[in-house]
Amino acid sequence: MVKVGVAGYGVIGQRLADGVALQKDMELVGVADLAPTLSIKALKERGMPYDLYLVDGADKAKFDAAKIPYKGSFGDLIGKVDVMLDSSPGGVGAKNKELYEKAGVRAIFQGGEKNSVADVFFHGYANYEKGLGVKYLKLTSCNTTGLIRSVDCLDRKYGVDRVAITIIRRVADPGDYHRGLTNALQMDKAPSHQALDLMTIMPHVEATGILVHTPVTHGHIITVVAHGKGGKKITRDMALEAFKTHNRIRVVTIDEGFLGNASFFRYARDLGNPRGDMYEIGLWEDSIVESGDNIMYAINIPQESVTIPETMDGIRAVMKMQNDSASATAETNKYLGLGKWR
Ligand SMILES: NC(=O)c1ccc[n+]([C@@H]2O[C@H](COP(=O)([O-])OP(=O)(O)OC[C@H]3O[C@@H](n4cnc5c(N)ncnc54)[C@H](O)[C@@H]3O)[C@@H](O)[C@H]2O)c1
Repeated sequence: MVKVGVAGYGVIGQRLADGVALQKDMELVGVADLAPTLSIKALKERGMPYDLYLVDGADKAKFDAAKIPYKGSFGDLIGKVDVMLDSSPGGVGAKNKELYEKAGVRAIFQGGEKNSVADVFFHGYANYEKGLGVKYLKLTSCNTTGLIRSVDCLDRKYGVDRVAITIIRRVADPGDYHRGLTNALQMDKAPSHQALDLMTIMPHVEATGILVHTPVTHGHIITVVAHGKGGKKITRDMALEAFKTHNRIRVVTIDEGFLGNASFFRYARDLGNPRGDMYEIGLWEDSIVESGDNIMYAINIPQESVTIPETMDGIRAVMKMQNDSASATAETNKYLGLGKWR
């Protein structure tokens, strides 16, 4: 059993902990955090299904006052695991890395860290093999994770040499107040980091794109224009066939009721998924169109949960649990129930 710890029990950390708990070949040793946040209070109210460890600087008196039990220090947790999943706020992971290095423990960082924090910038499908046995991985951000899933899907089957993307980005997660109450769209400078990140992981694809922030919380939408490798056209039928056989891409239609990003959130809740989480990206069949030699389509990114499967792949890579992407992603998918809708 590979032993795993989670640092930072926030939006991503809670979901990473749940994801590891579902992998039958991994053991979640515990989670670490700094403060008795609402997520930690909810953990306590749920009967502490995961052991809690306190990071340096945590105010123990506050945890004691809230009657939240803890097992020990961050160092205690690090000493018990093979891999740490670091989902602390962006930039904090780089500091935590010093502790991982000292303890000789592998670590996987999330998208808010700089690329330099890790040896490999990782995606479970597009470059799994590069992560084999490596000490430090960094996962792609939520948008990039979903974007690469779809571009890699076409690339693997038909070859892709150019993409252009537009990201309609949700401004905050449900429950966030730190971005204020907004009613405006905001432009980012082009090219968006997701396009640059895609080129880092898939260097044979030339990518560019624009990002527009929108005042919504239930998922991002990305439109992608892709060009087949060497001018070999990817038709609508070819794209649809590839997407329909991918276990992390749920192909839907507008007519069946998937009108937009909120439809996915509601459907995930109807499925009984904890917190309305969805591991898969949604892809609208009705959005796939040809434009000259290009193929265009739109995907929905459930930002809070989309990176969980690729992080599980990351554990498999650094621990050499499987030696190739196909078998590793298949194991992760099996435990997370990915592809069960097909
Ligand atoms: N929120 C998203 O939609 C999303 C999607 C993909 C990737 N990410 C990335 O995931 C990472 C975490 O983001 P989040 O949204 O879960 O943040 P968050 O603020 O919800 O959670 C961070 C948690 O870390 C805790 N923390 C603070 N200092 C710590 C320390 N020194 N050690 C350990 N824990 C500490 C905080 O108390 C909090 O519970 C970031 O790199 C972010 O860019 C976020």
